[in-house]
Amino acid sequence: MFPTHRPRRLRQHPQLRRMVRENLLTTSDLIYPLFAVPGESVAKEVSSMPGVYQLSVDKIVEEAKEVYDLGIPAIILFGIPENKDIEATGAWHDCGIVQKATAAVKAAVPELLVIVDTCLCEYTSHGHCGYLEVGDLMGRVLNDPTLELLKKTAIAQAKAGADIIAPSGMMDGFVQAIRSGLDGAGFEDIPILSYAAKYASAYYGPFRDAADSSPQFGDRRTYQMDPANGREALTEIELDIQEGADMLMVKPALAYMDIIWRVKQASNLPVAAYNVSGEYAMVKAAALNGWIDEERVVLETLTGFKRAGADLILTYHAKDAARWLANQS
Ligand code: PBG
Ligand code: ZN
Repeated sequence: MFPTHRPRRLRQHPQLRRMVRENLLTTSDLIYPLFAVPGESVAKEVSSMPGVYQLSVDKIVEEAKEVYDLGIPAIILFGIPENKDIEATGAWHDCGIVQKATAAVKAAVPELLVIVDTCLCEYTSHGHCGYLEVGDLMGRVLNDPTLELLKKTAIAQAKAGADIIAPSGMMDGFVQAIRSGLDGAGFEDIPILSYAAKYASAYYGPFRDAADSSPQFGDRRTYQMDPANGREALTEIELDIQEGADMLMVKPALAYMDIIWRVKQASNLPVAAYNVSGEYAMVKAAALNGWIDEERVVLETLTGFKRAGADLILTYHAKDAARWLANQS
């Protein structure tokens, strides 16, 4: 009577496989990132991210309609301003590009959730995520002055109609600062999705082309986390929970599946995984060469994030994934 246990028994029929499936990827899990630029009728493909475009506000609105029609519940907006300066004016000004895009999307597709990335790197002349003293040759990013600018940015975004604020700059105390700013301005019901465990990653390369946000000198290692650290992610998460975060993000996703798992075990809040630009670029490059089956690879990867503990997935594959999932059922 060998062997007694035959796990293959439950794999013999597609319906049975369906019944015992432990994790399910659905379109409801997906968040689609979009890049807003000044101008009209602009759709400029990002060379390192085939299928991803910098879009003017009118085009963002068209895209938002398509995303909504595909059943994707939310977009996340990034902005490329006309001008960059030391104060990141474009981030917090009422006429900033993300504020404009947010208002236009909420007017045209009110049921689609607009998440806004709250950071300064796309808007500062030096490309760092925070405030630097003018003429500081060491390029030290000053934490607490940055909090004031982030607070102003979040309030401007909320005023424009943003549904969820997602601070990504890895400044100490940023969740608390933004929470108090929002509450003080009457936005106590707007949730914060904190980029809680964000690593200093080479996988952000293509994004920095898309968002024109490369630091002009140095790197982000004095604020983003060391890729070698796992326990430290739990400290970051604990602080963000204490400060009032409503949801937690781990970023990047693929090389950090263990972190997604540990964050999920360590908290009761929804966990988001950011399937970042470099992860997308690798899949796209291989797919365009005919080296992999794009649909199967993408759906397997996104399902892997769910298995690791992600409730939400930010991904440039969202529209394709939504179409593939719709064809499966
Ligand atoms: C800005 C920000 C970055 C990403 C999201 N928000 C880049 C960075 O930290 O340099 C990366 C997203 C991606 O690579 O897809 N703080
Ligand atoms: Zn930033």
